[in-house]
Formats: sequence, C-alpha cells, structure tokens
Amino acid sequence: MRILILGGDGYLGWPTAMHFSARGDVVAVVDNFAKRRWELEDGIEPLLPIPTLHARVRRWQAETGKEIELHVGDICNHRFIYTVIERFRPDAIVHYGEQPSAPYSMQSREAAVYTQHNNVVGNLNVLFAMKRFCPQAHLVKLGTMGEYGTPNIDIEEGWLTVNHNGRTDTVLYPKKPGSFYHLSKVHDSANIEFACRVWGLAATDLNQGVVYGIDTDDTCKHAELRTSFHYDHVFGTVLNRFLVQAATGRKLTVYGKGGQTRGFLNIRDTIQCVALACDKPAKAGEFRIFNQFTEQFSVRDIANKVEAAGKRAGLRVQIDNIPNPRVEMEEHYYNAKHTKLLDLGLKPNLLTDAVVDTMLDTVRRHSGAVQPATIMPTIKWKQ
Ligand SMILES: NC(=O)c1ccc[n+]([C@@H]2O[C@H](COP(=O)([O-])OP(=O)(O)OC[C@H]3O[C@@H](n4cnc5c(N)ncnc54)[C@H](O)[C@@H]3O)[C@@H](O)[C@H]2O)c1
Repeated sequence: MRILILGGDGYLGWPTAMHFSARGDVVAVVDNFAKRRWELEDGIEPLLPIPTLHARVRRWQAETGKEIELHVGDICNHRFIYTVIERFRPDAIVHYGEQPSAPYSMQSREAAVYTQHNNVVGNLNVLFAMKRFCPQAHLVKLGTMGEYGTPNIDIEEGWLTVNHNGRTDTVLYPKKPGSFYHLSKVHDSANIEFACRVWGLAATDLNQGVVYGIDTDDTCKHAELRTSFHYDHVFGTVLNRFLVQAATGRKLTVYGKGGQTRGFLNIRDTIQCVALACDKPAKAGEFRIFNQFTEQFSVRDIANKVEAAGKRAGLRVQIDNIPNPRVEMEEHYYNAKHTKLLDLGLKPNLLTDAVVDTMLDTVRRHSGAVQPATIMPTIKWKQ
C-alpha cells in the first residue's frame, strides 16, 4: 500500500511510519514540527533528545535500506497538502497531525483557538484533498476516547441507537468532552461523518485511549530511531509522569481523588490497531468508529501499579492527592465497549507488572535528564 502519515515526527507517527515501511509499504511522512515549537513555548523537553526527522529518516534507510519520503509543511496550508496528496496518491492516510494536549488547549484563549484551528482546519483540508485527488483512499483518523467524556451509561463504539417517542434511529454517540482539545476531535468526527455521508469517502475514526510505552520493535533498532517520551504536565500522560516521579524520589501526584477512569493501551497496540484499520479498510461512504484501547484503569490504579513497581525495584514511593487542575468527575461510572478491533484481530499487549518494571527501569537509567520543574500542573481549567 501507499501510506501517508500525517504528523510523522510525533510520538506515534514516527514508529507507525517505520512499522509500515518495515513490512514493505511505500511510506511518506508529513510534519511541520509544530510539536517542537510547543515544547519550546513551555520550556519542555522529552526525557531523551529526539534527532531531527531528517536524521531519523536517514538512519532508517541506513539500518534497513528502506526509504521514507519526507514532506515538511503545514496541513492547514491547503495548497501544501493538496500537492502532497496529488503527487503521492495514497491508498491510506493515517492522520496523527494535530495538537494532542488537553492542558495545552486550556492555557489561554490563544491556545484554545490555535488548537481548534490547527486540528479542525487541517482535518478539513485533508478531507477536501481526498475528495479532489484520491476519493478511493481510506482515511484513518486519530480521535480520542475523551470525546465521549464520562457518561453515566455504557459508551458504545461511536454510534447509539435511540428510541424516541416511538421511533428509532442510530445517531453519533452524544459527546461531552473535557477540554477544547477534546472538542476539536468531536468537531473532526462530525466533519468526517459528513464527508463520508455526502461525498462517499471511506474513513475510520480511532477513538484512542491514553497511550503508554517507550519502545516498539523498530525504535529499538538504533538509538537515533527512538520516539519521544513526555512526562511533563502539558504533554506527559499519567503513567509516564508517575514513573518519572517514582524514579526521582518524588511523590506521585494524583489529581484529586484519582477515581478518574480511562482506557489505556500500549504504543505497540496503537500501531497494531492502525495497521489493522488500514489492512481492512472502511467501504466507500462508510464512517467507521472504533474505540481503541485495551484496558481501563483509574488514575489511582495507575498510581498503585507504579508504587508496587517501585517497591519491587527497592524504591520508596509515596502517593500524594493534589488539587485537581482540571474540571472532571473524580468518581464515576465508566464502561466503554472496545470489541471491534479485537474482532479485526488485535492481540493486546497488556499493562503487566513486567511492562511497568521495564518502563521504570528505562526511566531510572535516564533520570539524570529529568527536569522536575516541568512536572507539576500550572494550567488550570478554571482560572
Ligand atoms: N498519545 C496519546 O496518548 C494519544 C491518545 C489519544 C489520541 N491521540 C492522538 O493521536 C495523534 C498523535 O498523538 P501523539 O501523541 O503522537 O502527538 P504528537 O504531538 O507527538 O504528534 C503529532 C505530530 O503532528 C504534527 N502536527 C501537528 N499539527 C500539524 C500541522 N498543522 N501540520 C503538520 N504537522 C502537524 C506535530 O508537529 C507532531 O509531530 C494526535 O492526533 C492525538 O490527539 C494521542
């Protein structure tokens, strides 16, 4: 297949590009390096420095003999993305190229407007480019489980059949997202559904849970092929933050009561799910939605897992409940369906003690690079 990866310099985009390239697909990546600028704005760095995308593409070729085509540009510039898609003619477009952080989007009016402009307009440009140059291609779009929020009923995979006043219809599942970032993904989903229904495009929306993990088979091939590991309060996800806190003798900072429950998955399973979606595409006119996670945990569960891993490693780990900077339910019902990717053949890599121990060990080996000042949350939802 010819696979175009948008956001190919990112945490998930780069390992995905290597995965498809390794198995023999023709791969092109697009990025405008916006993430590197957001990091600079807040004085944040991943735990280990990440070589430039150009250097990683060269290293990949040196290690494997395989070429990844690289395009530098902004998806919000429709001329740029039109040109890339017209020339490359993808069979599948994997769209990771968005601002991915809830706290980033909540820090100011500018950041909220920027996030929604970047994500919604970029995604619209991709839809218009597909309609014009490759209407048979399949869009695999990364959404988030955070689109649903935490409703007091079971979360279905994208669609809900409703009986109302004696009549029945199937509608997009009602969304109650928790940040301007999550809202941008809801808007994307509505735009993609419209493009499939009206233009006949084929798309899969992957409502992804929180991803953890440092390595994939391909990132391990050379130090220059690694992907980013963020533990800071803007881009770091909860398990990463707790591991860094445990490794550096700091208390694990649980926001509020810690009963916030979410879906989680290993980075290896992100790649597996995206590959399954590409290999078994949606049909023309179909808007397919999968809930992409393998297990659900509360923040307290994750803290307990890291505390236990710390004990096994001979560390003294303490848990601290700090005021929650977010506005979210801290104890709630959560039961999200996630069978469609399993039906396609997903073989989950679960968050076992061995996985937590290996991640903690890696973080401890690099704990000298930790910037403690970037861990505590400074962005508040209501200020
Ligand atoms: N990592 C997670 O836990 C997680 C969970 C759910 C959903 N997602 C979604 O998956 C996708 C990838 O996440 P990630 O963690 O790899 O994020 P990331 O920030 O590491 O990667 C996104 C990449 O897209 C690029 N990008 C952003 N806007 C662009 C634009 N306008 N033009 C060109 N490139 C642009 C960035 O420079 C960055 O390299 C995002 O859409 C995110 O919302 C991630």
